[in-house]
Amino acid sequence: MENNRSSFASNFGFLMAAIGSAVGLGNIWGFPYKMGKSGGFTFLIVYLLLAMFVGLIIMTSELALGRKTKLSPIDAYKVVSKKFAWIGWLAIIAPFLIMSFYSVLGGYVLQYMSLNLAELSFGLSGIFGQAISGSATFGAMLTNQFGCFFFTLLFMIICMVIVMGGVSGGIEKFNKIGMPALAVMLLIVIVRSLTLPNAVEGLKFMFVPGYAVKGGFIESSPDLITVLGTAGGQMFFSLSLAMGAILTYGSYLSKEENLVSNSITIVVADTLIAILAGIAVIPAAVANGINNGIPVNEISLNGPKLLFVTLQDVFTNMGKAGPLFGVIFYLLVLLAAISSAISLMEAVGAHWIDKDLQAGKGDTRKGITLIVSLLITVEALLVAVDGLGSNGIHPAALLGIQGPVPDFIADWLDFMDCWSEGIAMPLGAMLMALMIGWELTPNLILEEVGHGNHSPFFGKFYTVCVRFVVPIVMAFVLAGQMIGFFGGSQILWYVVAFGLLVIFWVFAANGKKQS
Ligand code: PHE
Repeated sequence: MENNRSSFASNFGFLMAAIGSAVGLGNIWGFPYKMGKSGGFTFLIVYLLLAMFVGLIIMTSELALGRKTKLSPIDAYKVVSKKFAWIGWLAIIAPFLIMSFYSVLGGYVLQYMSLNLAELSFGLSGIFGQAISGSATFGAMLTNQFGCFFFTLLFMIICMVIVMGGVSGGIEKFNKIGMPALAVMLLIVIVRSLTLPNAVEGLKFMFVPGYAVKGGFIESSPDLITVLGTAGGQMFFSLSLAMGAILTYGSYLSKEENLVSNSITIVVADTLIAILAGIAVIPAAVANGINNGIPVNEISLNGPKLLFVTLQDVFTNMGKAGPLFGVIFYLLVLLAAISSAISLMEAVGAHWIDKDLQAGKGDTRKGITLIVSLLITVEALLVAVDGLGSNGIHPAALLGIQGPVPDFIADWLDFMDCWSEGIAMPLGAMLMALMIGWELTPNLILEEVGHGNHSPFFGKFYTVCVRFVVPIVMAFVLAGQMIGFFGGSQILWYVVAFGLLVIFWVFAANGKKQS
C-alpha cells in the first residue's frame, strides 16, 4: 500500500511546500499589526519564545506523526493512540472550515491584482476619470456578491488544479517556483516602502516598545497575559499547526530527512517572512497616512482593511508607478494565499485518497480533490455573499439577534474562524501534546525524529516541552481565543480552558501506557 503513496521528490521541495503552507495571509495582515499593538519588541520576544518552546515542538511532533505512520491525520491518530484516536477529525474539520473564508479572501486578492493589472495595462482610471480608492473599491467589492463569488471560484479552481497535479507534480512544483518568487517580490516592495517619506514612523510602530501608544496609534498597551494569548494564537495560525496540513506534508517526506533541522528551518523562515512582510507593509501604510494628513490612530493597519484599503491607497498615491507595485504586491499575496490554501485542501482530501489506495482502487486524487473543492465552494458561498458582514447575511441576523453581538456571530468569516482557529486549533494542539507526553511517551516521537540519533539535549528539551510547556501554553491560548470570540467574563474562560486541561491531562496519564 505504501509503495504507491505520493511523496515529495526532494527535501528542498518539501521545505518550500511547508514554508508555503506557513507563509500566508496570517503573516501579512496579522503579525506586523499585532506586533506593533502589543508592544513591539516585547511581542516579538514572546512570539520567538513561543515559537521555540511550543511551535517547534508541535511542528516536529506533527511531522514525526505523519512520517512515522505514512498516513493522513484521521488514520495517523487512530494508529498511534487508543485514547485520542478522534483528534484526527479535528485536524480535518478545522482546515475545511478555514478554507470557507481563506478561499474568499484569496478571491479578494485576485480581484485587487486584476484591478491593478487593468490599471497598469489600460489606465482604467483614465477611462472612468477616477483613481482607484481603497475604501470605495473595498466597499463596492464586498457588496458585489456575484463578483466575490466568481473570484472565489476562480481562486478555488487554481488551487484545485495544483492539488490535482499531485504531491510532487503539483504542490511541490508550484512552491518551488512560487516561494522564491514571493521572496524576490517582497524585497522589491520593501525597498519601495522604506524609501517613502516618513516610512521610519512605521518602523518605529513595529519595533520600538510602546511606540504604538506613545505615537498615538492606539490608546493603551495590552497586558502580558493578553500578549501571550495573542502571540500564541498568531504563531499557531501562522505556522499552520494543529490543522492537519503539516502532518499530511510530513507523511509524504522521505525517511532519510532530519525532522529537527527541517522544523527549525520552517519556523525560522516563517517568522522571518512575517517580520519582512511587516517591514514591507507597515512603513508604507503609516507613511501614506501621515503624508496625506490622516490622524495616525485612524490608519487601518490590521486585517482586510490593511490589505484592501490602506495599501491600495498607498499604490494609488504613488502615481504612475503605483499600479506596477500594486500588481507585484497583490501577486505576492496571492502566491502566499495559494500555497497555504493547497496545504489545507490536501489535509482535507488525503484521508480519502489514502483510503481508496488501500482499497486497491488506485489513485483517485483527481476525483476526491474535485469533491473537496466543491464542498469548500459551497461553504465559501456563505462567506462571499455575507461580505464580511456588510451585506447583513451573517449568523446573528439569521438568528434574529439585534444590537451588539459577540464576534463569533458577527459575520460568517468570524463564525468559521471561531470553531477552527479559535477552538479546534488550540484544543487539538493541547490534546496532541498530552497524548504524546503522557499516553504514548515522547520517545515514540524522538525515535522518528532523527532515527534515534538526535542530540541528547534535544531529547530532554522535547520531553519537558511536550509534557508541560505546550499543554499549559495552549490553555492560555485557548482562553485568549474564547475571550476574543465570545467576550464575557475573562475568568470564566480561564476556568474553562484550564478545566479542560486538567480533565484531559488526567485522562491521558491514567491507566496503562502503550507505546
Ligand atoms: N499559515 C497560514 C497563514 O499564515 C494559514 C494556514 C493555517 C495554512 C493552517 C494551513 C494550515 O496564512
